[in-house]
Formats: sequence, C-alpha cells, structure tokens
Amino acid sequence: PTLESIVNLHDFEAAGKHTLSGRALAYVPGYTCDGVTFAGNQDFYRRIYLRPRVLRNVSTCDMSRSIFGRRFNLPFFSAPAASIKLIHPDGECALAAGTSAAGGSMVVPTLSSFTIDEIVDSLPKGHPFFFQLYFWQDRTLARKLLEDVARLKPVAIMVTVDLPVFSKRESYERYELKMAAAAQRKRTGKMTREGQEKARESGNGRAIASDLTWDELKWIKEVTGGIPVVVKGIQSAADAKKALEYGCDGIYISNHGGRAVDSAYPTILTLLEIQAQCPEVLGKMEVFIDGGIRRGTDVLKAICLGASGVCVGRPMFYAAGFGVKGVQKAVKILADELQSAMQLCGITSLDQAHPGLLNTTELDPY
Ligand code: FNR
Repeated sequence: PTLESIVNLHDFEAAGKHTLSGRALAYVPGYTCDGVTFAGNQDFYRRIYLRPRVLRNVSTCDMSRSIFGRRFNLPFFSAPAASIKLIHPDGECALAAGTSAAGGSMVVPTLSSFTIDEIVDSLPKGHPFFFQLYFWQDRTLARKLLEDVARLKPVAIMVTVDLPVFSKRESYERYELKMAAAAQRKRTGKMTREGQEKARESGNGRAIASDLTWDELKWIKEVTGGIPVVVKGIQSAADAKKALEYGCDGIYISNHGGRAVDSAYPTILTLLEIQAQCPEVLGKMEVFIDGGIRRGTDVLKAICLGASGVCVGRPMFYAAGFGVKGVQKAVKILADELQSAMQLCGITSLDQAHPGLLNTTELDPY
C-alpha cells in the first residue's frame, strides 16, 4: 500500500500489516490476554450517537483548544509509545516533525529510541508538547530524568500509573517462541527480547517503579519547579477524585490501549462515569483521554463529554511507518474529519461542544 492510497486511520493499520517487521507487528497491535478492553475502547464510541443541530451558520470552524494556558491548533495529540524506532528509523522524531507540521503535537515518551533533546529538536522552536513519565524505581535516576525534562519545558508531565507491573501480552510471547525456535534451528542459541517496556526487568536501576503511590506525585512537581502533573491511566471516578484531592493538575483517562489489565473499563465509559459521579473534576482539572479513538467523530464525542484533549495511539504509530509524511497525513485526516463533524453538528468552535450534542442512552446499562 502507498501513502496516497490511504484515506482513513484504519488504512494505516491495514498498511502496517504489509510493511512492518515481524517484531513491530508483535509489538504495536499487542494487547493483554483476550483484548476485551482493547475492543471495548473502540466499540463504545460506536454506541454514542451525535445529535446534529441545523441552520447555525457553520461557514467557519476553529478546532483550537487552550490547555494549561497554551493554545493548541488541534485538540488531539499523538499518545506516548516506547521504541518507535522499531517502526521507522526516524521513530519519535518523525512523530514530532509530522504532528507539528500538520498543526498537532505529541506526548514525548520516557522510553524513546532517541534522546528527549533530539525529539524536541524535531519540533519547531517553542512548539508546545507533553512529556510522559515512567517513574524509575531508583529515585536518584527519577530525579535526574525529571530535571533533564524540566529544562525542555513541556506543557505538562503525564505520569503513567496503569502499568506498575508488566501485563500478559501473548503476541510478544508467540513472537519470542518463534524467534527462539528459529535461533535454535540456526544453533546460535540467541534469543530476541521484545520491547523496552520490559525495561523494568533489566536490573539497571531504570526499572519502572511498582511501589509508586499518590503521596509521591507531589514530589514530581517539586523537582520540576511546578510543571503541571497529569496522571495517565485513570480508570475510575474514585481515582479521578483522588487525583484532584492530591493536587494533580490533570487526569488522563487511559487503560494503556488495552495493554494493562484486560477487562478494565473502556475509557469512554470511565469519562461518562466521571461526568455522572464527580463533574467538578472536569471543571477543575484538564482531562485527557485515549483508547480506540479512530475518527473525528470520536474526538468530538470525547470533547462533548468534557475532555480537554484526546490522544491517539496505534494509528499514529502505524502512520509513523511512513515516516514524517505518514504522520502528517494521519493528523490531517483526523483534523479534516473533526472539522466536518463539528460543522455537520452545527458548531464552529470546540467551546460549543456539550453533552446535549450526544445521545448516550445506549450506554445507560453501564
Ligand atoms: C503504548 N502505550 C504507552 N503508554 C505510556 O504511557 N508509555 C509507553 O511507553 C507506552 N508504550 C506503548 C507502546 C505501544 C506500541 C502502544 C500501542 C501503546 C499506551 C499509549 O500511550 C496509549 O495509551 C494507547 O495506545 C491508546 O490506545 P489506542 O489509541 O492505541 O487504542
């Protein structure tokens, strides 16, 4: 498949099946166990209907969004992922250059294949971005990482908390078995280890902390001199409230794209739960969400329910398989879809998005 033949985000995934290495294909699509959560993330967006309003002069459309006082031209970002170099030699730098060229931005990951400076250098000077933090077990190293990152002034630090221990990814297991068998055939005895996400097991101090608790989050803000802290991996209204109580500046509703515990609640249902049980959270903190967002209408639905911004994972990583141009095209496709969804629903700015534009009654039993 060529980049020209791609018309939506699903096409990037289909293209990836032909263009990516076996290793990358064990990595990117992977989810935990049966993928109940992975599938649920996408499925529940399809069960929310839009309620378009008509005759409202939609000749203009502004998709920009103010988040933590910074203006973003688009309300969606590329989600963080480890080791994008597995997908393309330009890896995270392609994500940085491609998203920004199309008016978007990214969440720079801790476990990147390039240095953070190299990735930030691929953004236009002063372009706003976020940083995803995996909290190292070794607190001295954790401090050093935070000090390095603070220097680059991300808009916020998004600390991932939904994967304190590694989860069961059968696509990795099968790939490793296949490689081990191939190695044995060649009698080299060499085995390939998959994924930097397993860095916790490497024993070099850069293991990801499995003992992190709410109390320690404050420390992140102290070390960085006040950069806003967003908790990535909120999966319940109870924890959303807790984040507010502990002085976090934002929450990021996520189940790691179905890569943390399987059967975890689909993310859009968590957003609905928060809206129903603690709406004050939505007014007092910035709210991000990811998981299964594939269409401009999905972005609009999340924003109508109170999200400040959304993140897109796998489609962006597949798009990175085409380098900068692929990422740029993915962002443009999603932006065009969002713009037409807004105008067809009768709104010209995201501030006009509200729950009344949706019918969520199919989700009432949840
Ligand atoms: C991820 N994700 C992730 N999250 C994180 O906080 N740190 C990380 O290093 C990674 N790495 C990673 C690798 C790959 C290949 C995938 C697919 C995902 C989770 C990611 O940020 C995001 O939460 C999900 O990808 C969102 O779901 P969708 O859009 O992929 O359905």
